[in-house]
Amino acid sequence: MTSIAAHGGELVQRYHPEYKIPNDLTEIELDTFSLSDLELIAIGGFSPITGFMNQADYESVVSTIRLEDGTVWSIPITLPVTEERAAQLSKGEEVKLVYKGEVYGLITVTDWFTPDKTLEAEQVYRTSDAAHPGVKKLYERPSVYVSGPIILTKRLERERFEQYHLDPKETRAIFKENGWKTIVGFQTRNPVHRAHEYIQKSALEIVDGLLLNPLVGETKSDDIPADVRMESYEVLLDKYYPKDRVSLAVFPAAMRYAGPREAIFHALVRKNYGCTHFIVGRDHAGVGDYYGTYDAQTIFEQFIEEDLGIRPLFFEHSFYCKACGNMASTKTCPHDADSRVILSGTKVREMLSNGDVPPQEFSRPEVVEVLIRGMKKVGV
Ligand code: ADX
Repeated sequence: MTSIAAHGGELVQRYHPEYKIPNDLTEIELDTFSLSDLELIAIGGFSPITGFMNQADYESVVSTIRLEDGTVWSIPITLPVTEERAAQLSKGEEVKLVYKGEVYGLITVTDWFTPDKTLEAEQVYRTSDAAHPGVKKLYERPSVYVSGPIILTKRLERERFEQYHLDPKETRAIFKENGWKTIVGFQTRNPVHRAHEYIQKSALEIVDGLLLNPLVGETKSDDIPADVRMESYEVLLDKYYPKDRVSLAVFPAAMRYAGPREAIFHALVRKNYGCTHFIVGRDHAGVGDYYGTYDAQTIFEQFIEEDLGIRPLFFEHSFYCKACGNMASTKTCPHDADSRVILSGTKVREMLSNGDVPPQEFSRPEVVEVLIRGMKKVGV
């Protein structure tokens, strides 16, 4: 059985631990965003991208959701530096990529350019409002983007959950070993509540396997910390999911909160991890009221299936309905709002940090227990 092709054809592999980086090279200091982008490029998560974007690809992605060669790509992958640092660079120069004093890799600088960040915000985030967490981050980062191919020489430290750090080539191998031909990917930055479980299992009814792929890179400070979430996934999978049909692996990307654009990005990257299908529910990767409930679904209409190479599975807003006596969605439940158990993420976080227990129609008690304990520990 051959697995699904990576986006653009080849799974990029740019992790070379044996590569000796010359000591006398100059440095670029990475932030947590570019560090995680560096790793994802190197392990093939961002295939066909092999480095930080040049101006032509960047501008093409911003304005057309495609790389210059026409390949669909929705989020700019950039390496911002200050004007002062850019002024010292020369084309063709090899530069060490450094985070907190440690060298993680190398970029061969092909060019650098000053982006129009307002345009990037308007196009990618559909708003230039600096209160949007993705736009805020975009504006805060330095003002010149450096382009060029990279290699990664050192993996990021993992203190916990080492077994769930699987690269695309590893998840692909697991899918193959399990004999799964169709695999649905699930992105989340939250604990898995009943609505998530419902849409995952609905999808699993029609495919062979589920990749539960929680994002563990940088998120906004009021999201539930990744460590706490990981523990909650473990207890949930242990008690309520079939072991031979589910694989848990972390997605080491930073969260952009770019709604529709990020849904496309999330789908393409999961294709690189070997998924054939991808779940897009309500307000995928959204934040506040910046996007319509189903904008992250309708954006897929702009592409034909061959352009994406992964099939999105759309789900409407799901909840527990007391009148139905089970989980349902706006598509399948005829009852009104009074029958439906719907809580906002903010409300649930509030309840958890007060030690209050969200109803079991919203979240499994085992999950709630882990969350309350975990949130107390980290002092959220
Ligand atoms: S996200 O930022 O990672 O998208 P979240 O972890 O809340 O946020 O969502 C994970 C996935 O589940 C997304 O595809 C989202 O659209 C979907 N989802 C979350 N809650 C619901 C819900 N109540 N009904 C339907 N889909 C949902």
